[in-house]
Amino acid sequence: MTAVRKPKALRNPTAYLLKLPAHCRRHFDRWNAGYRLLTGFATSYRSRPITKKLTSDYDMLHDIRKTYQLGELTEATVADNPFDQFDIWLKDALKSDEPEPTAMVVSTVDTDLQPHSRVVLLKEFTSEGLVFFTNYLGHKGRQIALHPQVSVLFFWPLLERQVRITGIAYPTSDAVSDAYFHSRPPESRLGAWVSEQSSVIASTEVLHQRLEQFRREFGEQAPRPPHWGGYLITPVTFEFWQGRPSRLHDRLYFSKDESGSWKIQRLAP
Ligand SMILES: Cc1cc2nc3c(=O)[nH]c(=O)nc-3n(C[C@H](O)[C@H](O)[C@H](O)COP(=O)(O)O)c2cc1C
Repeated sequence: MTAVRKPKALRNPTAYLLKLPAHCRRHFDRWNAGYRLLTGFATSYRSRPITKKLTSDYDMLHDIRKTYQLGELTEATVADNPFDQFDIWLKDALKSDEPEPTAMVVSTVDTDLQPHSRVVLLKEFTSEGLVFFTNYLGHKGRQIALHPQVSVLFFWPLLERQVRITGIAYPTSDAVSDAYFHSRPPESRLGAWVSEQSSVIASTEVLHQRLEQFRREFGEQAPRPPHWGGYLITPVTFEFWQGRPSRLHDRLYFSKDESGSWKIQRLAP
C-alpha cells in the first residue's frame, strides 16, 4: 500500500506560504495554524531545545523581576476616549523623570511578513494621531509604503506603564513636514541630506565627506529633502497597561464597535 503523501503545502508550509499573494496568505496562515494545533504536525516550525549556554553570568536573569505597585487603572477611572487617556499618560511621562518619555518603538513588516522594530521620537500628538519624522527611503519607509499597518509601543518603566497602539501610518503633508524640518537645528537639517538611512556604508568617513559636501552646497539653510518627512499614525486600537502586584496587571483595551464608538475591554494580564 502506498503511503499517503501530505499535500505540498503541508510538507514545507513556510516556503509555500511565502510564495502566496498576501490575501491568500492570510487565509492559509489561519488554516495552517489550526491544522498544526490539531495534529501537532509541523515540518518547519517545531520546538527547539536550548543546549548551549554562553556563560553562567546569565543564570541570574531568571531572578530579575520587579514588583509593580505604583498605580492602578480601572474602568471607573480610565477616560472614555483612548486619545484622552493617552493624553493623561503622556503628560504624566513628560512630568516624570523618564529619560526618554517620547521614545516609542514602531514596528513594521517587510514583504516576507518579518516584523522590524526601532525607536523613534514622538513629535506631535493630536486628535488625529501620533507623528514622527524620518527618511522615507529607509527600511521603515519602504516597509510602510507596502504595509502601512504599524504597531507602536511606549514603555515608561518609572511609571510602571506600557501603551500599545496599532494603526495605519500615512505620510504627513509637505506643510507639516516643512514646519518641523525648519524647527530643527542646522546640523540636523544637513544630517537629513547626509544619511541615506538604512543603506550599507563603507565607513563613517563617507558620512563626514557627505556632511562637508552638503554644508558647502547649502550652508546653514538646508531645505527639506524630498525623501524626508513625517508619518501620521492613526490609531485603530490602544491598550493601556499598568503594573500591579502579584502580576495581576491592569490591561484596558480600546477598539471601535460597529457603530464606530470606542469600547473598552479588560484583558487578562
Ligand atoms: C532614542 C532614539 C530616538 C530615535 N529617533 C528617531 C526618529 O525620530 N526618527 C528616525 O528616523 N530614527 C530615529 N532613531 C533611529 C531609529 O531607531 C533607526 O535606527 C532608524 O530610523 C533606521 O531605521 P530603519 O532602518 O528601520 O528605517 C532613533 C533611535 C533612538 C535610539
